[in-house]
Amino acid sequence: MGKPVIAGNWKMHMTCAQARDWLATFLPLIADTPDDRELVVAPPFTAISTTAEITSGSRLEISSQNVHWEAEGAFTGEIAPSMLEEHGVRYAIVGHSEPRKYFSESDEQINHRARSAQAHGLIPIVCVGESDEQRSRGEAERVIRRQVEQGLEGLDPNRLVVAYEPIWAIGTGKTCESSEANRICGLIRSWVGAPDLIIQYGGSVKPGNIDELMGMSDIDGVLVGGASLDAESFARIANYQVA
Ligand code: PGA
Repeated sequence: MGKPVIAGNWKMHMTCAQARDWLATFLPLIADTPDDRELVVAPPFTAISTTAEITSGSRLEISSQNVHWEAEGAFTGEIAPSMLEEHGVRYAIVGHSEPRKYFSESDEQINHRARSAQAHGLIPIVCVGESDEQRSRGEAERVIRRQVEQGLEGLDPNRLVVAYEPIWAIGTGKTCESSEANRICGLIRSWVGAPDLIIQYGGSVKPGNIDELMGMSDIDGVLVGGASLDAESFARIANYQVA
């Protein structure tokens, strides 16, 4: 079983100067963090190089917020795996609900991105999750199962992270009940058929709910948006303690 993965996604936040300040606060706060967990931050592309320089030699790993399926080419606005590898990037977030919603990313495209990540030695963090309407119509499990089956097709589960992120809990302050998040993570594990798959929960993770979430049997980490922008909050999340 791999280590739990605690990842902060800065989304479209953080200039290089802000990333430097954040790291200056954050790195000392993880000096004594137990080695039983992996710590990851996903800067915007422009701050990856600065973040990589400052974190080299530290335990903080870097994720990108996207990766393309082609090695290079005429794909304006996209990022190639080799461009990430050059900076020692280890993870790539794909299938987040924001590109699914704003850029109509399909499960097929997400699968191409995730396969490309694995082919180039990156670990994809593939996000899945239902909307509020889908949940109230009783369709949550069917939607997530489709995202899992199509998005993860052909992937090696040993070099993969899946993030269960109910869309209604992202950036809303409404956390999914930890027991319900755990139940869905357990279902995902059974659908994939890989007992050691790392499954994160994401959606309004905060210092106040991290310990409870990490105490759940099927939750092997978290993907954190808003609370990762504040170095002290994210350090508290990284330093979670399970009773
Ligand atoms: P949030 O975002 O923590 O701000 O809810 C989570 C995410 O989008 O991954």
